[in-house]
Amino acid sequence: MKRTKIAGIGYYVPERVVKNDDLSKVMDTSDEWVQERTGIQERRYGRKHEETTSTMAAEATRIACERAGIAPEDIDFIIFATLSPDYYFPGCGVLVQRELGITHKEVGALDVRNQCSGFLYALSIGDQFIRTGTYKNILVVGSEMHSMGLDFSTRGRNVTVIFGDGAGAAILQPTEEPGRGILSTKLHADGTYAEKLAFINPGCHGGYHFKKLGEEVDFGYPSTDTYGEIFLTPRMMQEGQYYPNMEGQFVFKMAVQKFPEVIREALDEAGLQASDIGMLIPHQANLRISQFVQKRLGLRDDQVWNNIQHYGNTTAASVPIALCEAWEAGKIKNGDLVCLAAFGSGFTWASALIRW
Ligand code: ACO
Repeated sequence: MKRTKIAGIGYYVPERVVKNDDLSKVMDTSDEWVQERTGIQERRYGRKHEETTSTMAAEATRIACERAGIAPEDIDFIIFATLSPDYYFPGCGVLVQRELGITHKEVGALDVRNQCSGFLYALSIGDQFIRTGTYKNILVVGSEMHSMGLDFSTRGRNVTVIFGDGAGAAILQPTEEPGRGILSTKLHADGTYAEKLAFINPGCHGGYHFKKLGEEVDFGYPSTDTYGEIFLTPRMMQEGQYYPNMEGQFVFKMAVQKFPEVIREALDEAGLQASDIGMLIPHQANLRISQFVQKRLGLRDDQVWNNIQHYGNTTAASVPIALCEAWEAGKIKNGDLVCLAAFGSGFTWASALIRW
């Protein structure tokens, strides 16, 4: 039976290290608060005007291609997950294609907007295309340049201290090796709480969802029916309404419930136990969340990979960066059962079981 294997992985993080103490110089926060609540010590920020979400993705992709033994020209489909795209449109899929110098191939390029679970959603789509024999070398990439869109005043501290920049990429190929490859992917969503963790403006919502939810939010829309003026109003600019917002405790409670649920769902279907997991790669949302999940599943420290301490939350890039780091450290070997899991804005959550 044909399955999908991860033939090569790579990651890229920018050189610039930003410590918690660097942030406490510009906003009211402290190294102690950030480490205690999130486990984060530092994160990376890309070079403004020189690095973008798609250029970092290209860096990670080149490494993944080399490890898969292919050239970027061999990629026959691109799936790009991000919440911090270079442009509102077109998406980063075509930009990474151009950055890799493979526009002459006219391959398909798909953009996925599923935030922290974006890489897993992208992986799942790639898996379907490989198993049906549609493509042979699919690039699945998650990349984020958060630092360009965060609020560096005290108003944004609960969100800003968490996020970092980086990219992770995987090349998917078919394999006939018995038992090897992606065993399953599980995808879930619940839009009930879409606004609890969201980047709302600028957008084309015109206040609709807030009215429907019975929430009075003044976006500063003009009284006249002037369409073009409601995308980004002066009030949104003045009040910083164009930054991400998050109800942290609410998100935290949902995350610690959904992570174990979606991992167990995959294990149960495969007739496996948590103890069979060789390496769990949780989306790096908060070290406390990962520790809670580890405890709930009864996993040892050596069965869970955490790197949020050094990169913060890199959203769609976090799972492939962590997967790649664990693999580079020799902690993932052929035949190991690898479990990927993520939860984030939407809410969306997902898992994947891979026999490496
Ligand atoms: N520095 C200092 N104080 C802060 C900071 C900061 N950076 N941020 C918030 N505070 C203050 C708050 O103002 C509040 O003060 P108050 O009590 O005087 O009002 C106090 O600290 C507690 O704030 P909470 O938001 O309740 O803090 P909490 O313990 O919940 O930690 C955190 C916040 C780290 C964000 C946590 O809630 C969390 O990790 N949530 C989940 C995040 C997550 O999983 N996101 C999903 C993935 S991301 C994605 O999908 C895009």
